[in-house]
Amino acid sequence: MDVVLERLPGAVACVRIDRPEARNALSRAVRERLAEIFTDLAADDGVSCAVLTGTDKVFAAGADIKAMSNAQPVDMMLRAGERTWAPIKDFPKPLIAAVNGFALGGGCELAMHADIIIAGEGARFGQPEIKVGIIPGAGGTQRLVRAVGKFKAMKILLTGEPVMARDAEAMGLVSEVVPDAEVLERAIDLARQIAALPPLAARKIKELVLQGSDLPLESALVLERHAFQLMFGTADQKEGMAAFLEKRPPSFTGR
Ligand code: CAA
Repeated sequence: MDVVLERLPGAVACVRIDRPEARNALSRAVRERLAEIFTDLAADDGVSCAVLTGTDKVFAAGADIKAMSNAQPVDMMLRAGERTWAPIKDFPKPLIAAVNGFALGGGCELAMHADIIIAGEGARFGQPEIKVGIIPGAGGTQRLVRAVGKFKAMKILLTGEPVMARDAEAMGLVSEVVPDAEVLERAIDLARQIAALPPLAARKIKELVLQGSDLPLESALVLERHAFQLMFGTADQKEGMAAFLEKRPPSFTGR
């Protein structure tokens, strides 16, 4: 299996790309399996937060160059790669990328589909597509500029040169850098911490951050206000506030 799904205690799922012989290149089979897994996890009430990771040397080296070197535009259109990215893009629950080693091309784009990125000190992020005569095709020109701003993004995209984890963190592409050996453990701990909080609130926060950033501020604020009001219809709001006032730990039900 090139992609392994593990359900962990604490309502956390861990999805691991495991194709080291091809540096976790995102073949069609890998992308289809990822799509299948994220579709299932979205509907799984037993999972509140997911971690996406690779192997200890590479997160993912991008799209499978061997599978597209002779492709024509029509072949690429018929492959409709966007269909396999959609379940990850639309995954409604918090998603944490745990990145060791290379996250290049589609691998960097995959990491940018996550909501939080935990990187090892030796991780490297890059969009080297220009070096093989193409451009990023899974959101790299758009998500990267939104994450780090025009001038950092342009340098990464136009040179194809990777940036180290610490630099990526400084420019806003990484949430937290930890020693390489602690990446997965830290990501899973964080996932458990988030999964223990009210899942409906977590989903709304994710939705608002992602949808709101592409809207005019006033429209985004209206969306936020409505979602904020909606939270008062949840059992977890009643429980969370009651527990605070009664000075006891809350017991959330996800309702
Ligand atoms: N696609 C297909 N095969 C790949 C691959 C990729 N993206 N990356 C690595 N491999 C294969 C190599 O061809 C090699 O296979 P063989 O053993 O059959 O020769 C094997 O994995 C090992 O690769 P290396 O010897 O290069 O391994 P390394 O450890 O020395 O280097 C690396 C690792 C820096 C990640 C290097 O493999 C590399 O630069 N890979 C390509 C990165 C890249 O250009 N990615 C962009 C792809 S295009 C894209 O992603 C488009 C998009 O936006 C969706």
